[in-house]
Amino acid sequence: MGARIGIIGAGQVGAAAGYLLSAMPGISDIVLVDTNPARAAGEAADIAHAAAFGTSARVVEGSYADLAGAAVVVITAGASLQPGQTRLQLLHQNLHIMDGILAQVLKAAPDTVLLFATNPVDVMPAIAVQRFGVAPGRAIGTGCTLDSIRFRDRLAQHLDVAPASIHAYVLGEHGDSSVVHWSNALIAGMPVLEFAVQRGRPIDAALQQQMEHDVRTAAYRIKAGKGVSNFGIGGCIARLVKAMVEDESSIHPVSTFMPQLLGVANTCVSLPHVISSRGASAPLMPQLDAAETVALRASAATLAAVIDDGLK
Ligand code: 2OP
Repeated sequence: MGARIGIIGAGQVGAAAGYLLSAMPGISDIVLVDTNPARAAGEAADIAHAAAFGTSARVVEGSYADLAGAAVVVITAGASLQPGQTRLQLLHQNLHIMDGILAQVLKAAPDTVLLFATNPVDVMPAIAVQRFGVAPGRAIGTGCTLDSIRFRDRLAQHLDVAPASIHAYVLGEHGDSSVVHWSNALIAGMPVLEFAVQRGRPIDAALQQQMEHDVRTAAYRIKAGKGVSNFGIGGCIARLVKAMVEDESSIHPVSTFMPQLLGVANTCVSLPHVISSRGASAPLMPQLDAAETVALRASAATLAAVIDDGLK
């Protein structure tokens, strides 16, 4: 018997995640819950048909009660980023629905791990911890998993190496104040800038800035082009669920609630965490240079202020 996974919100992000998860070994049931049951039923049937070509999970539309026993509940419901909007501006709109969702999920599945993709994604774990008493390791934001993969993809294209061979993270807010962690980005055991020189494709300061800009604005460009950003985040959700279902103890830059970080109280930003069947470990603090430390503290302070606003 494999794991049961719940997905709240059968929009484009929930559907992309459900589709990827439906082909994952170790998952026996996927339950899609949406305020529009017909939409959830449509997505569930469509995904189930694709999954039927392989070893497949059972994919169904369900109610909150059907989440009983779920190993992970992924929360994607809520308003999504509109042109000209920042993620933080979605706070009140999405918090409004989050209270109801969390109350019902936790009633049905009190021991589940909550994996948030709803924006502002770094605020939601803090709400689960502070308002609902969820243990910090069981309330996880996908956070900078997506920004980090965008950074690796950008480096991979420039350097012509596989993203899997790049050890590089984006930390802090999933969004405009994110911190691209250049000082400890490694490829082949050497700093990425040194690797770039050896590879004959140097990265100068202007290109570094351009890459940072590209990473931070990726979602805005994707939205401008296709109206929705769903496959990248769907891939991140699937990767993080796999780490939990397979009890991997692999490292991912997710966001969890932090009572203290660099002198900032009650914040929630992305740092590397060990992800296993128990959820996320305590956050791990990598070595940062002075500018990155200042930027991470500023990002943590931005999030702390938004969390404070959200908890009022
Ligand atoms: C993204 O970065 C919108 O947060 C979403 O694609």
